[in-house]
Amino acid sequence: MSEDGFVFVTGATGFVGSHLVDHLIEKGRRVRCLVRRTSNLKYLEHPDVSFVYGGLDDGADWSSALDDVHTIYHVAGLTFARRASDYYRVNHKGTEAIVGAALKHRNHIRRFVLISSLAAVGPSRNGSPVTEETEPSPITPYGRSKLMGEEAVSMVKDLLPAAIVRPPAVYGPRDYGIYEFFKSISRGISPQIGRYEKKLSLVHARDLAEGIVLAGESEASLGRTYFISSEELYTMQEVANQLAKILGRRARSVTIPKSLAYAVALAAEGVAAILNKPPVINRDKVTDLSQRGWACSVERAVRELGYKQKVPLEKGLSETAEWYRKQGWL
Ligand SMILES: NC(=O)c1ccc[n+]([C@@H]2O[C@H](COP(=O)([O-])OP(=O)(O)OC[C@H]3O[C@@H](n4cnc5c(N)ncnc54)[C@H](OP(=O)(O)O)[C@@H]3O)[C@@H](O)[C@H]2O)c1
Repeated sequence: MSEDGFVFVTGATGFVGSHLVDHLIEKGRRVRCLVRRTSNLKYLEHPDVSFVYGGLDDGADWSSALDDVHTIYHVAGLTFARRASDYYRVNHKGTEAIVGAALKHRNHIRRFVLISSLAAVGPSRNGSPVTEETEPSPITPYGRSKLMGEEAVSMVKDLLPAAIVRPPAVYGPRDYGIYEFFKSISRGISPQIGRYEKKLSLVHARDLAEGIVLAGESEASLGRTYFISSEELYTMQEVANQLAKILGRRARSVTIPKSLAYAVALAAEGVAAILNKPPVINRDKVTDLSQRGWACSVERAVRELGYKQKVPLEKGLSETAEWYRKQGWL
């Protein structure tokens, strides 16, 4: 694709979006980002990055935001909310809002890429990784809201040239989501909810950014959905052991009964409600963590987009730990 015009990125101030912007800049793209007046722009200080202001759920001014835009990467989303309705408001209705704006500019938009989630499909129930052919069966409000976002895009597939990317859990520098796990291992505890050994897909934010741009720039991605993930699957134990080695700790495996985990999550939700903040853990996260596996196959992305995992787990964990150390978090 030519480099004329702009790529438009929502969620650019967040973990996934900021790595995506870094990758787009490396590739010489001019990037326009939707940000809010309250957004922290610290990862976006670059002359080729410009801004339009607004929120997905409070009437962004789309009138000129998408002028000269050829590719939209819709990354913004709520991953941790206090109320289920917040997930639907942002992940479903917010996606409808930007799809509506994109339709008005469809004569110059070559690709609309939605960042969905493995959660939209649900866990890998029979032990084998889910594929793009697996019937979605999300198990949490977050997962359902992401699936509804996908449906908002699929409904206009004949009008808007779109592709959907579904990452599993993402890790890397700037992430808050998996940080609690690092903290726990650094304190010598490897927590596990329930007794099953869990198979996981994980993706480093840099690999994900590359996969997203492949979906945005490849001719093959038109109307397609892709898991962008690690090519290998891991067990929780394996990840914990590697991380303990990197942190120079001996981590003792502690199995937390599900009922206790739900009780702790309920208490965390109560505290968060009083402080008016999202909780560190909630009952949905416990539901997620109690599943037997969250594994997906990247076979389609490898075959159709030429995607390749570049960051091995050990290197990814090690640089993430280093980043947390530099922030003084570990
Ligand atoms: N992290 C993961 O493990 C993971 C896994 C699978 C899928 N995903 C998907 O990847 C996307 C990004 O996740 P992330 O981990 O990067 O989350 P994040 O760090 O929390 O970033 C969320 C981004 O969305 C923006 N945003 C939230 N609500 C918005 C609204 N109402 N209007 C406009 N912008 C809004 C935030 O802007 P502000 O800076 O203004 O708050 C921020 O830029 C989400 O769609 C998520 O579902 C993430």
